[in-house]
Amino acid sequence: MKLKHSEYKQRTMKIWNEVAPRYHKRWASVSVGPFQSTAKLIELVDINKGNKVLDLACGTGVVTKKIRSKVGNSGYVIGADTSITAIKIAKKWNERKSNLDFVNIDAEKFYFSKKFDIVTCQYALFFFPNAQKALKNIRNSLKKSGKIGISVHGRKERVPFFSSILDSVTQYIPDYIPPGAPNLDRFGTKSALKKEISRAGFSKISVKEFVFHYSPGKFEDYWRNYIKYIPKPLKEKLDGLDYSKRKQLKQLVKEKTIQYTKKNGEILFPWQVLILTAKY
Ligand SMILES: C[S@@+](CC[C@H](N)C(=O)[O-])C[C@H]1O[C@@H](n2cnc3c(N)ncnc32)[C@H](O)[C@@H]1O
Repeated sequence: MKLKHSEYKQRTMKIWNEVAPRYHKRWASVSVGPFQSTAKLIELVDINKGNKVLDLACGTGVVTKKIRSKVGNSGYVIGADTSITAIKIAKKWNERKSNLDFVNIDAEKFYFSKKFDIVTCQYALFFFPNAQKALKNIRNSLKKSGKIGISVHGRKERVPFFSSILDSVTQYIPDYIPPGAPNLDRFGTKSALKKEISRAGFSKISVKEFVFHYSPGKFEDYWRNYIKYIPKPLKEKLDGLDYSKRKQLKQLVKEKTIQYTKKNGEILFPWQVLILTAKY
């Protein structure tokens, strides 16, 4: 059975409610690997004092915090996300300010009467099953001269941290990614991302490519932490594999990481990130 969009979004929300604390600690708050993009996104979208900014799918509020410091006391920032847990962390991570709010909303179903100068959205566009709906809402929330800044991961072959495991796991567990789930790297090339944004009516589109690096340690660390950090529904599927299959799977993953493994045994993954800016 294929997941309906609404079911996929429910599932995503549940997963983010579970993983948000680990995500914040391991990745977002420490700006490692792909999260070097947070500072780049802020720089590229060029936020000024007094700007009104919406940070869509703000997660645990790391981008939101940087935006708040740019807009100062005369600006205004809203961080919005479907995950209640992520929003709770975002509220703790950000100092309480009268011009900063966090709200629980679905990117595909929101409306603000206020208009924004800028909307940012880091590492989330691909989670929206109907990205056009979300982009339409973004457009409707922008002032006429408004801008957007969107970060996405590159195609899976350019993000081996994900693909070394996922390409192997899906050979052993074909429904590891549920049928009907959107392809999470569908906006992972400059042309695909540009096309989606231009379809939504934006202009002056520019996409910059970055290749960051991330070391998950030695192979055993990479594998152990992967298992430790995955959400319950995926862990249950992995746990369903019998011992010998799991051993074969681990070996297959290991083979895929060899090309990124240095002499001292540490893996160093390249990580492609695209950052798009565009105008209303
Ligand atoms: C990888 S995190 C990125 C969080 C944050 N932008 C950052 O850079 O740290 C993806 C976020 O998208 C949120 N998300 C997924 N689907 C969503 C939807 N339909 N509407 C709003 N937020 C959504 C998740 O809850 C999660 O917090």
